[in-house]
Amino acid sequence: MRVHDLTIDGVAVSAPEGTTVLDAARKKGIYIPHLCDRPDLKPVGVCRMCTVEVEGKGLVISCKTPVRDGMVVRTESEGVSKVRQVALELLIADHDSDCLTCAKDTNCSLQRVARHVGVDSPRLARIRRERDRRPLDTSNPFFDFDPNRCILCGICVRTCDELQNINAIDYTFRGTKTLIAGFGNRPRIETNCESCGECVVRCPVGALVPKDSRQPSKLVRTICSFCGCGCGMLLGVRDGEIVSAAGDFKNPASRGRLCVKGRYGYRYVNSPERLTTPLVKRDGEFIPVGWDEALDLVAEKFSESMGDSFATIASAKCTNEENYVVQKFTRVVMGTNNIDHCARL
Ligand code: SF4
Ligand code: SF4
Ligand code: SF4
Ligand code: FES
Repeated sequence: MRVHDLTIDGVAVSAPEGTTVLDAARKKGIYIPHLCDRPDLKPVGVCRMCTVEVEGKGLVISCKTPVRDGMVVRTESEGVSKVRQVALELLIADHDSDCLTCAKDTNCSLQRVARHVGVDSPRLARIRRERDRRPLDTSNPFFDFDPNRCILCGICVRTCDELQNINAIDYTFRGTKTLIAGFGNRPRIETNCESCGECVVRCPVGALVPKDSRQPSKLVRTICSFCGCGCGMLLGVRDGEIVSAAGDFKNPASRGRLCVKGRYGYRYVNSPERLTTPLVKRDGEFIPVGWDEALDLVAEKFSESMGDSFATIASAKCTNEENYVVQKFTRVVMGTNNIDHCARL
C-alpha cells in the first residue's frame, strides 16, 4: 500500500493511503481536539473541532481529510482557534452547565476540548439562551438519555447503524429542536434497541449514561461467563462489589464489544437472591441441605434413570473440556446418546 510522508506541527509523519490527518496525528501522539470522530466509525465532520490548517489549502477538517505526500499541517493557528472557539461556544451555549452533577464529570470529551480550545466567557454569556428543559428518556432499564447534555455528534446513531446494524435511533426534528430518538420520537424502550450499550460507551459527554454509575476503584480483566463467545471484559470493582462491566479492546475475539448480558448482566453476582446452598424439595417446599446430602440424592436419582429415560442439556457457560466430560458421562456412564447443548435451543 502506498505510504504518504507529511509533517504535522513540524513532526515528520508517514501514513498509509486512506488515513485521515486526524488519525495520522493520533497515531503519532499529536492531539487534535475532536468530538464527533471515533476511530471505529466513519467520519462525518459535524463538530468542526478538528479543524487544522494545511499549507496551500487553508482550513480543513482533519477527520475527513486524507493524508497526501508533502502535506504541511499546522494544528494551531489564529484561523484554527477562531473556528474551533466559535463552534465550541455554540455547543456549550446549548448544553447543561451543571458538570459537577454529571456522571461523566472529569471523563468528558467536551470538558477536555474546552480546556484545550478555551472559550471567550463574555461572548459565551451573550449567546447562552434560556430554554425549556427537555425530558429525559429513562425508559431503557440499563441506561438513561439526557437530551439537555447531548451535543448531537451522532456517534450513537452511527454506532447503532455501522457497528450493531440495528438502527434503533436517529436524528429527529430540525434546527434547535433536533433530538436523538427512536423513529417518530419514540422512547428507547419502544424501539428495536437491544440494550447492547455500545452507544453508551461511545457517547463523548454525559448524555448517555448507565443507570448504575458508581465508579469502580479497580478494574479486573476477565472473560464474560454468559455464553460460549467468551468476550473479553473489564469488571469494575468497588468495596468488593462489581459496579460496572466494559468491553476489553485488547481482546482479539471481541475487540471491546459486549452484548446486553455481558455489559449489564453482572448484577446477579451480588444479588441477595443467589442460591448459596443446595435446596431439596420436600413436601412441596425447598429445604436447604448440605452438599453431601444433595449429591447423594442426585446419584440415587441418576441410578434409577439409566439408559434412554435420561437426558443431558450441557451449558454454553462451560468450557469445551467440561462439555466433553459431560457428554462422556452421558454416553458411557448413563448409557444414552440423549445429549444436547443450550446453544442449539
Ligand atoms: S443500546 Fe445498542 S441497540 Fe440500543 S440504541 Fe444503543 S447501539 Fe443501538
Ligand atoms: S447522545 Fe451522546 S453520542 Fe449521541 S449524539 Fe448525543 S452526545 Fe453524541
Ligand atoms: S458479552 Fe454477550 S456475546 Fe459476549 S460472551 Fe457475554 S453473553 Fe456472550
Ligand atoms: S471530529 Fe472532525 S468534525 Fe468532528
